[in-house]
Amino acid sequence: MAIDVQALVPGYDFQGDRFDLEKPEDRDIVRFMLSQALFGEATGVYCGKSLFAARSLEAARFYLRQAKQELAHLELFAEIFRQLELEPVDAHWVVRLLSSHNNYYPFKVLMEHAIGEGMVLDIFKDVLLQTLPENHPASPSILKKLRVVCAEEVEHVQWGEKEVRRLLQIQPWLRWPFFGVVELQLAVLPFLVRAFERRGIGHPVLRHLRPFTEHVIARVIQQSRDLGFYPAERPGFFTRWAAMAAGALLFVRSQFARSFSTLDRTYLTELGFRGASAVPGK
Ligand SMILES: [Fe+2]
Ligand SMILES: [Fe+2]
Repeated sequence: MAIDVQALVPGYDFQGDRFDLEKPEDRDIVRFMLSQALFGEATGVYCGKSLFAARSLEAARFYLRQAKQELAHLELFAEIFRQLELEPVDAHWVVRLLSSHNNYYPFKVLMEHAIGEGMVLDIFKDVLLQTLPENHPASPSILKKLRVVCAEEVEHVQWGEKEVRRLLQIQPWLRWPFFGVVELQLAVLPFLVRAFERRGIGHPVLRHLRPFTEHVIARVIQQSRDLGFYPAERPGFFTRWAAMAAGALLFVRSQFARSFSTLDRTYLTELGFRGASAVPGK
């Protein structure tokens, strides 16, 4: 596939600081970092579950394509582990929490397809492409693989954002809980930062961790503003707390929600055999 080079321009500059795979402590950090990516790709395959909730043939086509790509990413990361002779470790609890599966389609679209994919892209494009060593024999092959993965993640984010906009148009009440859900997600990020920091105090790459996290938080807030559910000014604690409570309620609702299909009712319209009719939007 052709790679959109512009889309791979880093949002944060690591100023040339890279890991050195000759050093055991660096290998440990890279192993931990890649293990989170591997887990993220394994759960990314579940995007195929959105196929059942797809509201159009366009959406069905996209989820099918994305699931195949995520499965290929999972295998690419496994290959990177083998090339670097590293053994994966279990994912951190924050990564498990952020990638947990949800059956409530609006929640899944926001958290997985738009915000989650956006953060995955931040990590792959900004961290992995800039900080993995360039002098390892496998580096050219690994960086080439990662560029392909990043280009596909860009598409996943674009789809997620398109779907969030569509949902907000038909269910504008979701703006408030969506704002709270994003705040809740941002609130758990520091736990993951601490897990990395513990692995290499004073390491040249890890000294970027806090400014990089601030960059990610600012980017997610801007993304949420562009999607139309985040206030122009970040509100004070009490407003954010109230929104987080609404977000938590949406999460509770999501635990009891069952996804449902519509293609079995709309396929004749979608295929052009019948005129346009009201297509269920939820
Ligand atoms: Fe992926
Ligand atoms: Fe993805």
